[in-house]
Amino acid sequence: MVVGACDNAGVAIRTRFTQLFGCRYPVQQAGMGGFSSPALAIAVSNAGGLGMLTGTMGKQTLSAQLDAVPVDATVGVNFLMPFLDRSAVEEAAGRSALVEFFWAAPDAVLVDEVHGGGARAGWQVGSANEARAARDVGCDLIIAQGLEAGGHVRGTTGLLPLLDEIRAEMDLPIVAAGGIGTGRAMAAALPAGADAVRVGTRFVAANESIAHHLYVEALITSTAEDTIITTAFGEGWPDAPHRVLRSCLAAGKALEPAQSWSPQWPTVDYEGPAEARALYAGQSVGAVRARQPAAAIIAELVDEAVAVLSPTTS
Ligand SMILES: Cc1cc2nc3c(=O)[nH]c(=O)nc-3n(C[C@H](O)[C@H](O)[C@H](O)COP(=O)(O)O)c2cc1C
Repeated sequence: MVVGACDNAGVAIRTRFTQLFGCRYPVQQAGMGGFSSPALAIAVSNAGGLGMLTGTMGKQTLSAQLDAVPVDATVGVNFLMPFLDRSAVEEAAGRSALVEFFWAAPDAVLVDEVHGGGARAGWQVGSANEARAARDVGCDLIIAQGLEAGGHVRGTTGLLPLLDEIRAEMDLPIVAAGGIGTGRAMAAALPAGADAVRVGTRFVAANESIAHHLYVEALITSTAEDTIITTAFGEGWPDAPHRVLRSCLAAGKALEPAQSWSPQWPTVDYEGPAEARALYAGQSVGAVRARQPAAAIIAELVDEAVAVLSPTTS
C-alpha cells in the first residue's frame, strides 16, 4: 500500500485493488440486492471508488443500466447466486470490469465465463474455507465478509480474524467487508491485510441511493447495538441470516398477519409500511449521521484513513 499525492488533485491510496480497476481509492461500493440505480454506482466511480451495479434484476435491466454508465466510469456487477440469471452474467462479463458473486459455493464455470468476457472475477465469502474454494476456481479477488456486515451475512467470524486467516493462506487481493463506516476502520483494515474496503450501509444513505426516506432516517438514528441477525425476512430466500435494524423486526411482528417478510428493502417509491420492511444495516451504522452525496462519503473515509495512515506509510 502506498499513500501519497496523485496525478489529479488530492491524495491517492494505491493498492493492488486500485491498480486492477484503475480507481483512485481502495473503496468498493457493495452490491445492494434486487433494486439498485446506476446513479449510485456512477457517483461512487466518479468520486474515485469502484461503483457496483446488480445483475439480479436480469439481463435487460442490467443492459440498460450499463448503457447509462459513462465510458470513463469503471463499474462492476454483483450477482446473488439464489437469483442468478446466466444471460446477465454474460452481459456483465463483456461490459464491466468486475463480476462478483455471493451466496453459494464458488463455481469454476461461472468464473471461466467471466474471464471469457474479459472481466475480473470475485467472490464474497464468509469463511477461510470458502476463500480457498474461490481461489481454487480461479477468482482474481476475494471479498472477505465479516459477521459485522449489513444485509445477508454468510459466515460466523468477525472481519479481522477472517481477514487474518485468509491473508495467512493466500496472496490474492482481498476486499474487507463488514462494519467499515469510517476512515479509522478503513485505515485499520488495509494494514491488516486488505487491498480495499467494501462499504454497504453508508451508501444506503447516499443522496444517489434509492432507499426510502424512512429507511435512511432509521439508519441515521441507529448504532451498532440496534442491529440484529435474523432469518425473518426469508420469503423466497429462506434460512439465510441477514443483519437488519431490530426496529423493523418489531414493526413487522406488530403488523402480523398482514406483514410481508420479503427480503426486498424499501425503495423511495414504496407505499406500504416501510418501517416494517427489511432495513438492512451493518455494525457500521453508527457512522451514518446524515444523508450525503456518495462523493462526500468517500472523501470523508479517505481523508480520515489518510490522516491515520500518514502520507509516508508504505
Ligand atoms: C442494503 C444492503 C443490501 C445488500 N445486498 C447485497 C447483495 O445484493 N449482494 C451482495 O453481495 N451483498 C449484499 N450486501 C452485503 C454487502 O455486500 C456487504 O457485505 C456489507 O454491506 C458490508 O457491511 P456494511 O453494511 O457494514 O458496510 C448488502 C448489504 C446491504 C446493507
